[in-house]
Amino acid sequence: MILVTGATGNVGRHVVTQLAGAGLKVRALVRDPGRADLPEGVEVVKGDLTAPETLASALEGVESVFLLWPGFEAHAARPVVELIAEHARRVVYLSAHVPADADYFHNHIERLIRNSGINWTFLKPGGFASNTLGWADQIRTGLVRWPYGRASRSLIHEKDIAAVAVHVLTSAGHNGASYTLTGPARLTQAEQVAVIGREIGREVRWEDQSPQEAREVLLAAWGDATFVDGALEAWGRLVDEPEEITPTVEKLLGRPALTFQQWAADHAADFR
Ligand SMILES: NC(=O)c1ccc[n+]([C@@H]2O[C@H](COP(=O)([O-])OP(=O)(O)OC[C@H]3O[C@@H](n4cnc5c(N)ncnc54)[C@H](OP(=O)(O)O)[C@@H]3O)[C@@H](O)[C@H]2O)c1
Repeated sequence: MILVTGATGNVGRHVVTQLAGAGLKVRALVRDPGRADLPEGVEVVKGDLTAPETLASALEGVESVFLLWPGFEAHAARPVVELIAEHARRVVYLSAHVPADADYFHNHIERLIRNSGINWTFLKPGGFASNTLGWADQIRTGLVRWPYGRASRSLIHEKDIAAVAVHVLTSAGHNGASYTLTGPARLTQAEQVAVIGREIGREVRWEDQSPQEAREVLLAAWGDATFVDGALEAWGRLVDEPEEITPTVEKLLGRPALTFQQWAADHAADFR
């Protein structure tokens, strides 16, 4: 039995679907089973990662866990990691490609997992292509205002992260591996918007917004000032130091990573 957390999210939904499609036993942890809308054959259990006492029955009989940590705080993660290590043999943690010494919750959770004694694999993606969904309202108006139009990223399709997770969960040889995952090519943010525009058949302009103005918008949305400032600084750096491209998706899956054009085609309806 494989327990998938974040099962209604960008990546987890594909992990669940791909595992179930391969005929494997999948249990999806969700906060609201009534709204989960997951494929037939998937066992859906209610639980909240920030309330460890709700997780015991979800972990019953589980061999492997696909773990993501929601939000920006790792405080509540210790008892959850301990519970997982008690019940399961292996965890595949959806971390992030962030500097190893950065004060991000991903690094704290990786440390907790390393110290827990469980077999682990860390998936460390760079930017998700799905982050561009945040521009959907602006794209519908034909103008996107956001900082750092020349910031260049190798955005990854959530289907590829999920496919790597499924590969790791269903094959041997990944214990103790950290996989840095990216898309196959770089595009600036302004170019990403142009690609989406082409997919939906309308011209969308880009206008650079000041980082100060964006900070206010992001603070209202995310609430966490450290994360907002860290994100703005990281995006600013990507103007002169474009995000790296790794061959890891192709090496693991035996096929090229999906392009941003493919992602935009898959999500055209979200921008119309
Ligand atoms: N975006 C990026 O560029 C990027 C890059 C690297 C790493 N990451 C990491 O990727 C992860 C996000 O992945 P994603 O985009 O697939 O997720 P997502 O679409 O943001 O969805 C979050 C998932 O977590 C669930 N969730 C939220 N709070 C929960 C709680 N208290 N207990 C149990 N489940 C809870 C949600 O379920 P319900 O709301 O349905 O309950 C949903 O399934 C984060 O850890 C992020 O740091 C993101």
